[in-house]
Amino acid sequence: MTSSAPETISQRLLDWYDKNARELPWRNPPGRARPTDPNWPYRVWLSEVMLQQTTVAAVKPYFEKFTRVWPSVFDLAAAEDEAIMAAWAGLGYYSRARNLVKCAREVAVLGGFPETEAELRELPGLGAYTAAAIAAIAFGQRAVVVDANVERVVARLFAIEKPLPGARKAIRSDAEAITPEARAGDFAQAMMDQGSSICTTKAPRCLLCPVSEVCEARKQGEPERLPVKPAKKAKPERLGTAYWIEREGQVWLVTRPPMGMLGSMRAIPDDGWTAQSDGSDEPPIAAQWEDLGAVRHTFTHAHLTLRVKRGSVEMNPAIAGEWWRISDLDEAGLPSLFAKAARLALV
Ligand code: ADE
Repeated sequence: MTSSAPETISQRLLDWYDKNARELPWRNPPGRARPTDPNWPYRVWLSEVMLQQTTVAAVKPYFEKFTRVWPSVFDLAAAEDEAIMAAWAGLGYYSRARNLVKCAREVAVLGGFPETEAELRELPGLGAYTAAAIAAIAFGQRAVVVDANVERVVARLFAIEKPLPGARKAIRSDAEAITPEARAGDFAQAMMDQGSSICTTKAPRCLLCPVSEVCEARKQGEPERLPVKPAKKAKPERLGTAYWIEREGQVWLVTRPPMGMLGSMRAIPDDGWTAQSDGSDEPPIAAQWEDLGAVRHTFTHAHLTLRVKRGSVEMNPAIAGEWWRISDLDEAGLPSLFAKAARLALV
């Protein structure tokens, strides 16, 4: 803990935020925690779910599309699952979209979002971070919001040497100590902005930092060393084959099972990615298979090399699915992996 008063840190960060807050489509301007727009909590919730493990730049067009098509949580709750999953395609971490649908429907039944962190935490897909972020940003409640940016800022401010994830308890307790009673939402977003623009992972810009004078890691001379991260585990390599099955300008699409990778998303059929490299996989229908090459994709826990084969058929494959016009494929909402696979078939 530094000797500087917690309120000094929060005040400096808030002053900095008043001048430097990024303008984002889901963001209330500094100092306006509760805009009168009744859809504000919905916008904050949607953005926070989209921003989990995803960059601001990637989220912006999706946020704009969702709020244009479904301006309120009631509109989203009334939408078809397939339409929501397809609109989410390309954003990744698809369990978020499945929980989004469930959460919207629960909130619609409740008549709107609950306002406390504890009640928000009960909703599908809302972990500690998201519940705190919504309570603070949408409802102006004092809540301690800790994401990866906040973790970095706090670990440096207080020179927390313990490696992650073990350091999280200490980080949380120091974050709690500096969170102000008023403007907790602005404060959380101030730390996020400061963390992503100044207190960056590599080469932090300490000369521009509003709290550099009270930063213990800076005093020690090597702020970029913190927080100490555990060594990254090598990701396993997986191998699979996907089948582009064509008939009269159409391709056979399946909807993946709800559990598992890319669950509930449309896709071309594949072998479950359990194949050996000897190519001994079993196609879903008999055809003359043409090898189109392979695509690579990286998930959180694995790298995948997916071979793609094309075949023309006369009958429906034995697996459940639907014929989709190739000229309308953009509307199918294929996740990035299968969009890449489709590109091999379309060149
Ligand atoms: N990342 C997650 N939530 C955010 C927010 N509200 N502003 C900026 N970056 C964020």
